[in-house]
Amino acid sequence: MAKERLLEIRNLRTSFFTHVGEVKAVDDVSIYIDRGETLGIVGESGSGKSVAMLSTMGLLSENGRVVSGEILFSGRNLAQLGEREMESVRGSEIGMIFQDPMTSLNPVFTIGGQITETLVKHRKLPKTEAKRRALEILASVMIPSPDRRINQYPHEFSGGMRQRVMIAIAICCDPDLLIADEPTTALDVTIQAQILELMKELKSRLGTSIILITHDLGVVAGMCDRVNVMYAGRIAESGTVRDIFRRPRHPYTLGLLKSVPNPNRMQKERLVPIKGHPPDLLKPPAGCAFAARCTYAMKICVNARPPVFDVAEGHQSACFLNHPDAPSVSM
Ligand SMILES: Nc1ncnc2c1ncn2[C@@H]1O[C@H](COP(=O)(O)OP(=O)(O)OP(=O)(O)O)[C@@H](O)[C@H]1O
Ligand SMILES: [Mg+2]
Repeated sequence: MAKERLLEIRNLRTSFFTHVGEVKAVDDVSIYIDRGETLGIVGESGSGKSVAMLSTMGLLSENGRVVSGEILFSGRNLAQLGEREMESVRGSEIGMIFQDPMTSLNPVFTIGGQITETLVKHRKLPKTEAKRRALEILASVMIPSPDRRINQYPHEFSGGMRQRVMIAIAICCDPDLLIADEPTTALDVTIQAQILELMKELKSRLGTSIILITHDLGVVAGMCDRVNVMYAGRIAESGTVRDIFRRPRHPYTLGLLKSVPNPNRMQKERLVPIKGHPPDLLKPPAGCAFAARCTYAMKICVNARPPVFDVAEGHQSACFLNHPDAPSVSM
């Protein structure tokens, strides 16, 4: 089946303008997702995962701005849409589950009220029809006794149930794309598994494409088709899950893989955290952002920014080790 590009972010730069200077949170990032795909975005805290997606949704805080780049979705450049048009994209074409559910659920409205409002506004459903549909959606995200729960407020729900409500709101208008920012990080393992299962089920039933931001490489392995590894506001490596796990071509990806337990390996392996810290995004280094922490760093890595190398079909790495003249190292 021919692949259809759903979202394509090209050379996105997003900065925050603060009293101490410009924070280059997203610095020349290109990401795409095809229809029907699940794309993972991984990377340490502060690498720009959320900011890249908030730029796409037009939801940056006041001091944040898309400085350059394109965000192409259904034939439009979202980076150039006005607030009214963006509101309609957000309500009905792209749904987002936010990192912190309590900041995005409105505490003073019942959850039924919040879903119904979205349906009335974006689907123009009459109120009674919207309420009927809200009940259906709550049931579809496995919220028990939806007819009772629909009249409750966000604080009356447990963490896992709140996350289901967030998913319900995000999918209620049948979006083509669902962006899930750390949807399970705050939850315990069993609930985490249930939420991921629910997302898989929704995907296969509704055909929604999913961008999943996570710290957890185990989650990526279980859920995603492709992965983008982000580091200090840039894409370090991208490829299929299989390429990234089996043939990582960027030392940062390798570092991430070594820092998580691998249940598939028989012998007990030692986990190695990546030493050091990411650079200050107020003063990003001239060369590779990872050079200071990289065991393979060469002189050029400190002086020049690595271009993106095609290392195999659909597999890219922004690391000089992939240059034809670089010394060969076994990663
Ligand atoms: N409103 C803001 N003002 C200034 N800097 C900001 C603002 N919001 C985010 N940043 C900075 O942008 C960078 C990227 O942040 P972002 O939230 O995208 O990271 P992340 O990869 O989502 O991290 P995490 O895994 O912790 O969620 C960070 O350095 C952060 O401090
Ligand atoms: Mg984040």
